[in-house]
Amino acid sequence: MPKIIEILLEEHQNIEKLLLVLEHELEIFDSGGRPDYEILQTMIQYFQDYPQSCHHPKEEMIFEKLKARDPAGAKRFGDVEAEHEVESRRLQSFARAVDSVLADQEFLRESFHLAVQEFVKHQREHLQKEERLLFPAAAKALRSEDWAEIDARLDDRKDPLFDSVVEEKFHNLQKTILRWEQETEETRAALLRAGS
Ligand SMILES: [Fe+2]
Repeated sequence: MPKIIEILLEEHQNIEKLLLVLEHELEIFDSGGRPDYEILQTMIQYFQDYPQSCHHPKEEMIFEKLKARDPAGAKRFGDVEAEHEVESRRLQSFARAVDSVLADQEFLRESFHLAVQEFVKHQREHLQKEERLLFPAAAKALRSEDWAEIDARLDDRKDPLFDSVVEEKFHNLQKTILRWEQETEETRAALLRAGS
């Protein structure tokens, strides 16, 4: 598998970790509790940052090459750039929902729930669609010179949240992800013990 696809898959796994934390915060909100809005804001900041400036451009370059090498395969996917555009609008609605709640504006609980839920649901569908239709088709159709060209144009900036050196503004978010993973792991172990 081309190295770039491996990196993209890993980045998808990282995004999934964030979506799990987000779902957990939404459950807290739905049961009448106060989610950690600071974490939600940091998460929004992250999504506006790395995925939009580094992850999506890689996929868009791959898609451009796929259109040239396998037009039918590209057509089966649709339009990756347009999808990223829609995702970024959903992210904006999610960000607006958080801002409204924090500014104590009259904001329906239902609207907040929907903005977050829609974001999570569509993000996930989009990631899965890329894994199903874009990456395998590109791995098959693109030639080594295509990968080399993409590689040369890539911004090799490190991920500020999931790389070994985490940017300070993302420290708390990183800790939350780790804590949530640990709790999930413990719940799973407890369930296994109870079942055995
Ligand atoms: Fe992606």
